[in-house]
Amino acid sequence: MRKKVTVVGAGNVGANCAVRIADKELADVVLVDVVEGVPQGKGLDLLQSGPVQGYDVNITGANDYEPTANSDIAIITAGFPRKPGMSRDDLLLANFEVVKTATTQVAKYSPNCIIIVVTNPLDAMAQAAFLVSKFSKNRVIGMAGVLDSARFRTFIAQELNVSVENVTGVVMGGHGDTMVPLVRLSNVAGIPLTELMDQATIDRIVDRTANGGAEIVKYLKTGSAYYAPSAAAVEMAESILKDKKKVLPCAAYLEGEYGINGLFVGVPVKLGARGIEKIYQIKLTEDETAKLQKSAASVQELVNVLATRM
Ligand code: NAI
Ligand code: 2OP
Repeated sequence: MRKKVTVVGAGNVGANCAVRIADKELADVVLVDVVEGVPQGKGLDLLQSGPVQGYDVNITGANDYEPTANSDIAIITAGFPRKPGMSRDDLLLANFEVVKTATTQVAKYSPNCIIIVVTNPLDAMAQAAFLVSKFSKNRVIGMAGVLDSARFRTFIAQELNVSVENVTGVVMGGHGDTMVPLVRLSNVAGIPLTELMDQATIDRIVDRTANGGAEIVKYLKTGSAYYAPSAAAVEMAESILKDKKKVLPCAAYLEGEYGINGLFVGVPVKLGARGIEKIYQIKLTEDETAKLQKSAASVQELVNVLATRM
């Protein structure tokens, strides 16, 4: 039987998730959005790409959740994107209501699914989805680290004029300006970054990575990135659907790991058929630990704002 993925939010990120899932023939897709006609229209348009692209998956759109029943994965992208000058945190309360509704409906119709949250502010929204769904912690995962490390890897490859495939870039922490690109653990075909670049270049790339989302918002003016974000969410979905057990940086609910308790923060995890199958605890230096704690504290602040509303 074919796998089924619900994508909530048929906007830029959601629609591109559907495109990538179809192109990779990973699963049937149900797009859900509040705007009448948009998920249906995009779904039908994508379905009609099948004969040209050579995929047989079914893609439909809906304004309610009944057609999403028994999905294997739900990717929640519904909400409002950033506008220039807005931080991801400005989106907190508006997107919380959206994620709460989406999660309640997803959990009702697909009680056994795995939820991948994309909506910002990411770590706080993943926390909301976890608490609202009451799913076990391995079944609620936030997408940010794959995107942030893809940006880090892109900038490193660009700087050194090498294939992006050779670059490993590790980014931990919350999805915000306090994210923690880990230079010590990043390398090009095993060669440590510190042997390939001087400190000033590394600092410039780290800074550009931490502000990678804002750089695109500044160009687009009316929204935020969606090609790389959809690629990142679908890499996570693929690892789950195919039980590939990829090790990827994702927002996971921590219970003591890295000294962080009861909070979603980006860490390396193994993604397989059961969702998060392992959280990797790597030894960090004092400086890295301090940066991770600072990043976690900024997530905690947002979660505290939501606490009275959950
Ligand atoms: P978009 O505006 O293009 O699409 C959002 C869609 O959500 C719209 O079609 C809207 O009608 C729909 N929507 C709003 N309320 C809804 C509800 N209650 N139920 C169902 N659908 C609803 O925005 P875009 O660019 O797709 O971004 C979506 C979210 O993803 C934003 O919050 C953005 O900040 C976030 N994002 C997060 C990233 C990450 O790394 N975690 C990366 C990129 C975007
Ligand atoms: C990004 O990093 C907006 O969070 C989104 O592009």
